[in-house]
Amino acid sequence: MTSLKLENISKVFGAGSNRVTALSDIEFEAKNGEFTLIIGPSGSGKSTLLTILGGLQTPTSGKVLLNDQNVENYTPKKLEYLRLKNIGFVLQSYNLVPYLTVQQQFDLVTKVKATNNMSSSSFDTVIDQLDIRSLLHKYPNELSGGQTQRVAIARAMYPNPSIILADEPTAALDSSRVIKVGEMLHDIAHAQNKAVVTVTHDQRLIDYADHVYELVDGILSQQK
Ligand SMILES: Nc1ncnc2c1ncn2[C@@H]1O[C@H](COP(=O)(O)OP(=O)(O)O)[C@@H](O)[C@H]1O
Ligand SMILES: [Mg+2]
Repeated sequence: MTSLKLENISKVFGAGSNRVTALSDIEFEAKNGEFTLIIGPSGSGKSTLLTILGGLQTPTSGKVLLNDQNVENYTPKKLEYLRLKNIGFVLQSYNLVPYLTVQQQFDLVTKVKATNNMSSSSFDTVIDQLDIRSLLHKYPNELSGGQTQRVAIARAMYPNPSIILADEPTAALDSSRVIKVGEMLHDIAHAQNKAVVTVTHDQRLIDYADHVYELVDGILSQQK
């Protein structure tokens, strides 16, 4: 059982007249078996919230709890290990390695983390669902925005993390692909008992989510 919780999280950037409160008093919980969507316009704090959830940046105040433990209590090494084992990111920058082909991006995962990656049959299914088989020998700079996005989703799922955090995973996709990705995010959460959290401005994903939150000017409210 893995859970990820935010308690009373605030994030402030800058000081004086440059001061920006990106997040105010956020309470949030992501659970196994659920697809949670956070919807908000540009600049509302979505990426800040997601990167704090995944430990890529620290909050100004408040607590991040991974499996009910305050992450501040873990040593950096232990936290790094827990993240590698538990968390898969689909970031806006896509985090693909530019000099590796799509296939090699997956091979790299196997080198860093040898065990408990996706079985080859599950991987085959994902490759077909995301329609990226014909891209396996291409390099990231040969892919369109939508293709890159689909590869980045597969790349995040490949190590079998118990938590998947996705930042605008459908921004570059047409509606038929959005439906597939929405169904997939829902299925991963339910069939594989993972916690899936997606931040987006894409209203098209709402139907697939178990819970929907709205983020406006750094203030989070639960809608569903
Ligand atoms: N590193 C940073 N330094 C200063 N301001 C930042 C930084 N990151 C984000 N912000 C500000 O915080 C607010 C929320 O940003 P962000 O989380 O990227 O929103 P979203 O992902 O919803 O577009 C914006 O006003 C943005 O300019
Ligand atoms: Mg963003």
